[in-house]
Amino acid sequence: MLHALFGSLVGMDSSSTVSRTALTSAAARAAHLLVDHEPLIFVDPLAQVLLGERGDELIAYHQRFGSHPVLAGARAEVLCRSLFTETLLTESALPQYVILGAGLDTYAYRSGAGRSVFEVDHPASQAWKRQAVETAGISAHGGPTFVPVDLERDPLVEALVEAGFDLARPSFVSLLGVSMYLSGSALEGVVAALASFAAGSQIVVDYMLTPELRDDAGRAYAEAVGAAVAEDGEPWLSFYTPDELTPIFVRHGFTSVRHVALADSIDLGLWRRTDAVARMGLSGLLHATRQS
Ligand SMILES: C[S@@+](CC[C@H](N)C(=O)[O-])C[C@H]1O[C@@H](n2cnc3c(N)ncnc32)[C@H](O)[C@@H]1O
Repeated sequence: MLHALFGSLVGMDSSSTVSRTALTSAAARAAHLLVDHEPLIFVDPLAQVLLGERGDELIAYHQRFGSHPVLAGARAEVLCRSLFTETLLTESALPQYVILGAGLDTYAYRSGAGRSVFEVDHPASQAWKRQAVETAGISAHGGPTFVPVDLERDPLVEALVEAGFDLARPSFVSLLGVSMYLSGSALEGVVAALASFAAGSQIVVDYMLTPELRDDAGRAYAEAVGAAVAEDGEPWLSFYTPDELTPIFVRHGFTSVRHVALADSIDLGLWRRTDAVARMGLSGLLHATRQS
């Protein structure tokens, strides 16, 4: 099941450079509305629309096996990081939002009005998404500026500026479900690039904890999913402790850096559930602000 879920579905062969995990993340958001009970954690009605028929099989796994700890765990991870981030984004009232490794994020189509949204993603994945947006016919509701960048090797700031990003205005930045796929040097490169962003800019990054910091559920999830994603060409490369990440951000001008366990990042009332979505000790969230 896991290989099918994370692997060669949706018309992609194993040599495709399109991110399959972008699709599985979107399927988790879509499935939450179909499988889970109130209180919903994060409502993304466009996830299923954007996936279109490519998502049918992925979502069907959640419908058939939604209580399986891996599927319920995937939903918990994706939903918590999205809720945490979009709550802070709204509170920040910052005028520009840069979504790094955007995958099938639908923020720009749901609620982007009033701020400029820049979606950065690997060129192959972004091209695939643009086609999906067209097929789904959702661009009438607005949309982001697309910025194709390989975060392992392309200069991020130059690409953003060329696309119309204003370095003089403070921005909100997210890197969700991505840090584990980047080398340590690429992550440091991204944070270094953000040193040229205006004072007051904020970033949220989720990261997978090193094994000794995970709980039993997190360890079991990582064992099962880590093997499946590696087999399907998107291996997890990087795990962090909060203490390892903080100095990277401080080195590049972030003065306020805080960490929260992913499971503690949402209103605790949302964990009073009658479905299978449950707390899991696997990931952390970092929220940092550049000196103002
Ligand atoms: C698990 S998906 C997360 C997508 C989205 N942020 C979400 O939460 O649904 C990982 C994303 O990271 C992107 N990614 C991975 N490595 C990348 C790289 N080197 N450069 C740019 N994007 C990358 C993939 O293309 C994919 O969209």
